[in-house]
Amino acid sequence: MFSKDFVWGAATAAYQIEGGAYEDGKGLSIWDTFCQRPGKIQASDTGDVACDSYHRFKEDVAIMKELGLKGYRFSIAWTRILPNGTGEVNQKGIDYYNALIDELLANGIEPFVTLFHWDYPNELFYKGAWLNAESPDWFAEYARICAKAFGDRVKNFITFNEPQCFIGNGFDGGGHAPSLNFGVRELIRMAHHVMLAHGKAVMAMREVYDDLKIGYAPTGSFFYPQNPESQADIDVAYNKTFETGDGGDSFGWTVAWWLDPILLGKYPEDGLKIYEKYLPQGWQDDLKIISQPIDFCGQNLYNGYGVRAGDNGELCWVKRYVGFPHTGNMWPVTPEAIKWCALFTNRRYGNIPIYFTENGMAGSDVISLDGKVHDPNRIDFLHRYLKELSEAIDMGANVKGYFQWSLLDNFEWSNGYRDRFGIVYVDYPTGNRIIKDSGYWYKDVIASNGENL
Ligand code: BG6
Repeated sequence: MFSKDFVWGAATAAYQIEGGAYEDGKGLSIWDTFCQRPGKIQASDTGDVACDSYHRFKEDVAIMKELGLKGYRFSIAWTRILPNGTGEVNQKGIDYYNALIDELLANGIEPFVTLFHWDYPNELFYKGAWLNAESPDWFAEYARICAKAFGDRVKNFITFNEPQCFIGNGFDGGGHAPSLNFGVRELIRMAHHVMLAHGKAVMAMREVYDDLKIGYAPTGSFFYPQNPESQADIDVAYNKTFETGDGGDSFGWTVAWWLDPILLGKYPEDGLKIYEKYLPQGWQDDLKIISQPIDFCGQNLYNGYGVRAGDNGELCWVKRYVGFPHTGNMWPVTPEAIKWCALFTNRRYGNIPIYFTENGMAGSDVISLDGKVHDPNRIDFLHRYLKELSEAIDMGANVKGYFQWSLLDNFEWSNGYRDRFGIVYVDYPTGNRIIKDSGYWYKDVIASNGENL
């Protein structure tokens, strides 16, 4: 059963929907410049215009209202607020987010603001980005400015979206901006600075307003038991979920390396044995800052891996069968992952409130002859995941909200506009929005507070 105040929401990110990339004093981010590099993004797509939400945000809020959303998770483009990443503030950027926030509140929709969803200021990239020991202070300054500007009305903030992804895909040989290929020494240092930036930002924001609810939205590789009745399978899945790395750069996608310091105030022991030598000097003292108490734990959860215990309790992989369900971008459909992610998060980190800050699927949706967008696969996907989520809550998981990814079809990073994740279709040539069948389905779920699942 979902609580009466359960936050049914949808999520987006600035670079993926806003457009207006060069307007009103906004500075360049690494995604602006990366998209200008030939061959980096499929079909040479860019976020220059995207869904044009920079100009059409009122229409988007009207759609949210129509769907009955209780919460909207969006991100702030750091370079709209601080074009150079630090220093002079761009009032027009503040004005834009103020207008969006006011429009949301006027329509009864609670804003959940992510401070950083990957569009890192280009000028700070030239200074070494997260490798620079000053980078946590740059971020804390930006966080403080956002708290001052918006914290009278925005009460829910998220510091980082998926650090695993922007470090892993951005600096560990992946296809995301700036697409560098660092070694584990640099990656561990960057990760540490990102978590220190999180802690410093939490402190800075709380100095401005003491009633903010602040969280963090990581992702990671989650494992679930093949047989949910078997304690041995459950334990194997739990242990695998929180294992940290094999000595290479695989720490990057783990859950514990990125969450233990923040929620437990220490790095995981197994990871430390391998990576301690790469941590910057004074890392032990930093942990006090990194582990500032936060109010909720976000989780971006799309899928997981099934495992089971062998005869001697050892981990065995559950092979996916031929034709195993997958989404339009080939991600496996594994609804049980959301249940075990919730239960395992509470098992390791206590009863901290959890928000699923992203979950959803890519499709190849089209406008049918009847002018509508029929996406039965997405309805089925969301239905399965939400049923599992409901079970997790019944089993005691402290889940307070769910943000479907994404409200709108949008610029899906290196895949450009190929994959459509929205519950609202965006016709890019015209910018027109059409609520998909899944959007109407989600509206009914919200109206019944999940009782119709
Ligand atoms: C998450 C991100 O990793 O997954 C989103 O936080 C992203 O920004 C979503 O859009 C889907 O991933 P992708 O790689 O298909 O864009």
